[in-house]
Amino acid sequence: MSHAPPSPLRALKCGPLAGRVRVPGDKSISHRALLLGALSTGVTRISGLLEAEDVLNTAKAVTALGAPARKQDGVWIVTGRGVGGLSQPAAPLDFGNSGTGTRLMMGVIAGHPMSVTMTGDASLSRRPMRRVLAPLKSMGLEVEGERETLPLTIRGSARLLPIAYALPVPSAQVKSAVLLAGLHAPGETTVIEKEPTRDHTERMLRHFGAEVRSEIRDGATHITVAGDAELTGRDVTVPGDPSSAAFLAAAALLVPGSDVTIEGVLVNPTRTGLYTTLREMGADVAFIDEREEGGEPIADIRVRYSSLKGVTVPAGRAPSMIDEYPVLAAIAAFAEGDTVMHGLAELKVKESDRLAATAAGLAANGVQAAVEGDTLIVRGTGGKVPGGGTVATHLDHRIAMSFLTMGLASEAAVTVDDTAMIATSFPEFRGLMEGLGARFAPG
Ligand code: S3P
Repeated sequence: MSHAPPSPLRALKCGPLAGRVRVPGDKSISHRALLLGALSTGVTRISGLLEAEDVLNTAKAVTALGAPARKQDGVWIVTGRGVGGLSQPAAPLDFGNSGTGTRLMMGVIAGHPMSVTMTGDASLSRRPMRRVLAPLKSMGLEVEGERETLPLTIRGSARLLPIAYALPVPSAQVKSAVLLAGLHAPGETTVIEKEPTRDHTERMLRHFGAEVRSEIRDGATHITVAGDAELTGRDVTVPGDPSSAAFLAAAALLVPGSDVTIEGVLVNPTRTGLYTTLREMGADVAFIDEREEGGEPIADIRVRYSSLKGVTVPAGRAPSMIDEYPVLAAIAAFAEGDTVMHGLAELKVKESDRLAATAAGLAANGVQAAVEGDTLIVRGTGGKVPGGGTVATHLDHRIAMSFLTMGLASEAAVTVDDTAMIATSFPEFRGLMEGLGARFAPG
């Protein structure tokens, strides 16, 4: 994938977007369903799995570890091996662009006495793995050499130690890696988080029969998993990904006259910070028919064009919208007044340095933006974004989609230098957008 020639694209100013759409399955939940399926006894049937490169790499990885994942009659079926039952793969596991796949899998491998080499693309090979390796090492994981980035060779153990671990960064990936390793340890493993991060691992572990407690003490959440766990294969229905829906919602908000409904979207409160922020900005966003599916809250999200005002987004909201800041910045460019987003340190270690890439993309299109420490400030244009620039995407799908979305309402076309990476999370992006009335042209 990283060797494919770049495929630039231009987004053109378009008329009102309208219609009802469904976005593909949530990426976080899709990874977890495959991993927990592999660690269960019996068969797990997954409906609505996200079939994007990141998740397909996790499917290949569990297959290579002896728990085949394959699609049959529209449903993904994982034949699990039970906790501790995976086997040595014949070759290195390639996680492509996916930090989630890599870090969660490290927690799984930690509980198995096997040596596994993990690789990724240029973006993933720059991302920090120490945040996961440090707690896993204290449980008994061995890491070959001194490296802290991919490629890495790690060796797990059938006799892990349970730990209590306070997260130094608000990261659901780190939390999940430790909880997954904790399944294999005797006794109880606890993760303590000061700021709530997405809780899909906890919810899904319970669904598969693990004992998981969440307690709030002294303002922090203590999540405890009982070790020597036994998981049983289950049916999982994956709801629509709110982080993908965010681009369609943004386009509807920004293009005058638009009215779009996105059906069956995950609205777990650990994921909906963007929608809270948009409402504060004056956006017409409604969650319709809120219901539950597979242990997660979902709703249809209706978004209508709105004129927006700038707001201050508190740092405490960052974990619930961590992947949505680039698109929020694109939206803020159209608002009246400044939008100030605090607490964005984690954006620097995503698929790209998203803080820098977002500010640069705005500047290239005539929007004033400043980074002050961990804060991003976007000066709203009050509706007229000049556009006309080219955005460097740095192998980052969300940078590409955010600026293409901005281009649909900008005065002149916005070009992104590459769209190949969009396939890592949302291959249907262009088709769904065009179905609503968006216009794109070769870059
Ligand atoms: C994810 C957690 C977040 C998010 C990523 C998916 C997950 O990362 O950015 O896209 O599925 O757990 P961090 O937990 O590292 O913040």
